Order: sequence, then structure tokens, then C-alpha cells
Amino acid sequence: PVKQTPPPKDLCLSPPQSPRATSGRLKGAIDKSSKPGISPKSRATPQQTARSLRLGDEVPDFIAAATGMPGHNRLMHWHSWIEGSWAMLCSHPADYTPVCTTELGRLADLLPEFLKRGVKVAAVSCNDVETHEGWIKDITATAFCQSGQVDYPIIADSSRAIAEQYGMIDPDERSAEGLPMTCRAVFIIGPDKRLKLSLLYPATTGRNFTEILRAIDSLQLTAKHNVATPVDWKRKDKCMVVPTLTDEEAIRKGLYFEVIKVPSNKRYIRLTADPS
Ligand code: BEZ
Repeated sequence: PVKQTPPPKDLCLSPPQSPRATSGRLKGAIDKSSKPGISPKSRATPQQTARSLRLGDEVPDFIAAATGMPGHNRLMHWHSWIEGSWAMLCSHPADYTPVCTTELGRLADLLPEFLKRGVKVAAVSCNDVETHEGWIKDITATAFCQSGQVDYPIIADSSRAIAEQYGMIDPDERSAEGLPMTCRAVFIIGPDKRLKLSLLYPATTGRNFTEILRAIDSLQLTAKHNVATPVDWKRKDKCMVVPTLTDEEAIRKGLYFEVIKVPSNKRYIRLTADPS
């Protein structure tokens, strides 16, 4: 059998794997070509990784340089950074691209709304930290960034290792150098480090972060209460009792409800007040 040496402490270390944890993290081996440390499995094809990250999976760990991180090498250990908190990771095809510039500016202005909800925010783009820092000066100079500051980290992923590991590569977009670019992905991660929501937009379509905040409100509410949120729901609007609860169970949990009459006479649309 091949003898495995333990990985150095400054590279990506993997905690014990749970049965549903995603692949793509270290299992005692280090990809020495990958700088900063990331699993050798991150070299899997985009098709393989895209399929492997499912709702409920533990999100892959990585160590990468990021803006705003302390120390001369500005390394962020992703799992330690998000530890115990909700988190959002958004990917961007490349620095100095127009749509991304508008998105990061808007996200900077909305950061207090994410923090109010206990959600840590990080962006990732396929360039190095120095390029990110130059780009931030442009972002903060535009009208899309009224606050004039980007107070969340932008992770460096020049090698596309994180993009591949998370299945974020857009097969249709290539950089000027012919390298694959990431799509606009959004990953909302729970305090248990498991994926709660993912969105994949093509590079040519900018996201709506107000909608993402609305979805986070629903995720956080439904994580605590046996309710689901209907179309266009926003905080304080009526919710629905989840189909898995009987009428009696719902009432026992204090979810008093109104049944909406439908031609089938089935009692499945049960409206209840926002329980938060
Ligand atoms: C942009 O961010 O503007 C962009 C990036 C890649 C392809 C198209 C647009």
C-alpha cells in the first residue's frame, strides 16, 4: 500500500468526511501544483463537479488568497472563515468586466443587509489578488457603488481550481487568453456548511441581489419553522404550512391556518401567519 504523509499545516486540510460530503477535498494527499492548497480532485471536469454539488452537500473547502485578509500572503481558509455562520459565495467570470463591476458595486452597498441577517459574503473571480485590488478602485468609483467601499473579500482563483471544484465553469465563455471563465454562480451556505441554495446565471446576465436577500429570508425562516414561503413572499407575508405536517400537528406547533378552497376539494393550501 502507498504510504501517505500528512499534509503540511498551511495547506487545505479536510475534516472527517460525512456520507453526503462532496468530493473534491483532501484525503491525505496534496496537489503540489495547486497554489494555494486545494484538492487534487478539483482537477475534475466541470461536468463532473457541476453534478456533484447538490443541495444539502457540505460545500468544498479551499485555501486561497483574498482581498482584505490579514498577513502577507492574505490566505483565507474557507471553512474556518465561514465557521458557524450563514455565508454567500458569488462567482464572477473575470476582473475588469462590465457586468461584474456593476454586481460587485451593488453587493458592496447591500453588504449591511447581508450582515444584518448573519450572512458572510465573499466573491470569487479568476484573477489574482493584486488584480482584484486594482479593479476594486474602479468598482468603488462607479455609481453602482454608492458606499465607495468593497468590505467583503474577493477570492483569487487564477487557476480556476475553486471554479472547477464548485462546478462554476461556463462552457460557453472564454477569456481573451482562451481560458474557461466562470458563470455567475451564487451559493448560499448554512451554518452547518451545507448548500442551501444555488443559482447559476450565464456570464451575460447580471444577478439581482435584492432577490437573493429575499430568498435568504425564506431559507432562514424555513430552517426554523415548519413553513414554506409562496411566490413573491417577503418578510411578514403569509406562509404555507408544509405538506408533511397534518392539521393537528400544525396546530400543536401553533401554526393556525386558513385552508384555501380549490375545485379538487383537497386541503393542501394552508396559509398561516409568518411565525417569526
Ligand atoms: C461581464 O462581466 O460584463 C461579462 C463577462 C463575461 C462575458 C460577458 C460579460
